[in-house]
Amino acid sequence: MSEKNLFPHHHFVNQAMRSALNGHAPLVIWLTGYSGSGKSTLASALEAALVEEYHAHTYLLDGDNVRTGLNAGLGFSAADRQENIRRIGEVAKLMVDAGLIVITAFISPYRADRDSVRALFPAGSFWEVYVSCPLPVCMQRDSKGLYRKALKGEISDFTGVYSPYEEPLAPEMRVDTEKMSVAECVQQILAQLVAQNIVNGTRVRE
Ligand code: ADX
Repeated sequence: MSEKNLFPHHHFVNQAMRSALNGHAPLVIWLTGYSGSGKSTLASALEAALVEEYHAHTYLLDGDNVRTGLNAGLGFSAADRQENIRRIGEVAKLMVDAGLIVITAFISPYRADRDSVRALFPAGSFWEVYVSCPLPVCMQRDSKGLYRKALKGEISDFTGVYSPYEEPLAPEMRVDTEKMSVAECVQQILAQLVAQNIVNGTRVRE
């Protein structure tokens, strides 16, 4: 660091103090999967449950939102996706330091990019959650009409059509949105958060 004349400072208020105030541990719940697999819907429902039922302190980072702001200049080449995920990882790291439960919803198709983000966090603070749904089902749902456009050649590098998706090999969790409802997927993740003592099992509100 010193060759750049940078001297990172350790401040008085730290993550442990923030966590104690928040009443829960911080972590990243990193949802990955195809476009149309249900990441954004699940992320939103999970965040609502955490806030309303457990009074958790959360933040949701979502691909389509972040790409209109922080990452507005980035496209969908492998290099741009890598930079997209790198920045999100660094933002999530700051938010975890701030004591939040961070939920992210990005396709994040490359294993190496996801593993680089994982490496930013201590063990147990990064949960890769594979939002699993077969590509033909995502294509049939086509909630944004993007697969139709991609198949007509109107969108280049579209994931699953012209660009790869590398399935997680050992995710902390996997939710199957073809077979399970949004509410069931939320319950599956909440149960794990309680089992791992991230949040207190006593709900504030049913
Ligand atoms: S990622 O691959 O870099 O992780 P990210 O999750 O941020 O992607 O953005 C995906 C969103 O961008 C999709 O939900 C879709 O609305 C939009 N999009 C536009 N072009 C593409 C493309 N070529 N491939 C995938 N998604 C695209």
